[in-house]
Amino acid sequence: MAESVNKDSGETKPRKVKYRKTKASWNPAMQAVPVSGIRRLVNMASTMKDVIHLSIGQPDLPTPKHIIDAYIDALNAGQTGYTMDAGLPELLVALRDYYGKRYNRKLTRDNILVTSGATEAMYLAISATSAPGRQFIVTDPSFLLYAPLIRMNGGEVKYVPTRAENNHQLDPDDVIRAMGPRTFALVLNNPNNPTGAVYPRSTVETILEECAYRGIQVYADEVYDHFIFDDDEFASVLSCSTDLDNIMCISSFSKTYSMAGLRVGWVIASQAAIKSLRRYHMFTTSVANTPSQFAGVAALTADQQCVRDMVGIYRERRDKVVELIDQTPYLTGYKPGGAFFAFPDLPPHVDGSDLALRMLKETGVCVVPGDAFGENCTNALRFSFSTTCERMEEAFDRIIPWMAKQQL
Ligand SMILES: Cc1ncc(COP(=O)(O)O)c(C=O)c1O
Repeated sequence: MAESVNKDSGETKPRKVKYRKTKASWNPAMQAVPVSGIRRLVNMASTMKDVIHLSIGQPDLPTPKHIIDAYIDALNAGQTGYTMDAGLPELLVALRDYYGKRYNRKLTRDNILVTSGATEAMYLAISATSAPGRQFIVTDPSFLLYAPLIRMNGGEVKYVPTRAENNHQLDPDDVIRAMGPRTFALVLNNPNNPTGAVYPRSTVETILEECAYRGIQVYADEVYDHFIFDDDEFASVLSCSTDLDNIMCISSFSKTYSMAGLRVGWVIASQAAIKSLRRYHMFTTSVANTPSQFAGVAALTADQQCVRDMVGIYRERRDKVVELIDQTPYLTGYKPGGAFFAFPDLPPHVDGSDLALRMLKETGVCVVPGDAFGENCTNALRFSFSTTCERMEEAFDRIIPWMAKQQL
């Protein structure tokens, strides 16, 4: 510390150095990261008693026991180190075989990169390619990760709205009309969060064909690919395209096997794309959680009855939430075909954010307002049915009389 001399006494004493207080200098790109509309409500709910959450974005059903056992066995066997950067070799093989069989598609291990959840996979895909002058087509509403990631890296978001009156289906003509000379990529989330819409094969094939023709990249988020309630088959991009040149298919164990906290996902893409993503992955999370990857091998290679059982439960809940929304004044619903969300409309002039806040304060039911997911859906509310039918009935016993008293 610096010393100063006292003029009168001649003594020296340490001089106090003053530091100027500066604000943390964030990269301006951080401005693209919004305050999450979900967090705001959930934080308020955490200060209240007797809240019923219809806001949850993760499965509530328990992780199947054989998966937990595989995780614990891996720990006990000392599997606590890093894996290969592309992923645990056994998991790469299991994913190759699983997808190869499911979509009758020839894949190699080099087509796959294991990540820390679909979130990291999306982060890698978007942030490695978004740049000024590049436009990304995204549905409005859409999962809240995509637009901020695109914008953080200088890219531009071009929204294609979907509407409750069309069951939030994506019209391929709308998507094609949105394509222009600057369009670089399309983010396709099927089944969709927050709408629960499942796009049929005809939609996916038409869009992919146009993207291939124009050289537009397709980032397909298929984390809800097993949460399909009405259709016999799911139109994955992996089954709707002949080659992977412009396609990245992203998914994870989080939803299908109730493994959200174990954080394992993946990207399936061309070998060239995986090579680049793999390099980037090493500089972000390096590898996914090792025991979780062993749990993932168990999930994919064991009998899949546990998945069918869970989907059956979610289907019953979907039917229940549709029925309850139909009985609720001012809500216009539809039948979501997948995921575990319904996204009904309020009358067009109503601010869903304001209504959700009042609903939480006055009824203790927490839902997520539409503006958390885009610009065109501020009059919508997202109801998650990742909770029991009994709990949903309790929630709507509060919501229905409360809504009846509103003058919207
Ligand atoms: C559409 C969508 N994609 C990705 C994720 C993130 O999944 P993960 O837990 O695998 O990171 C979620 C989670 O809510 C989601 O809804």
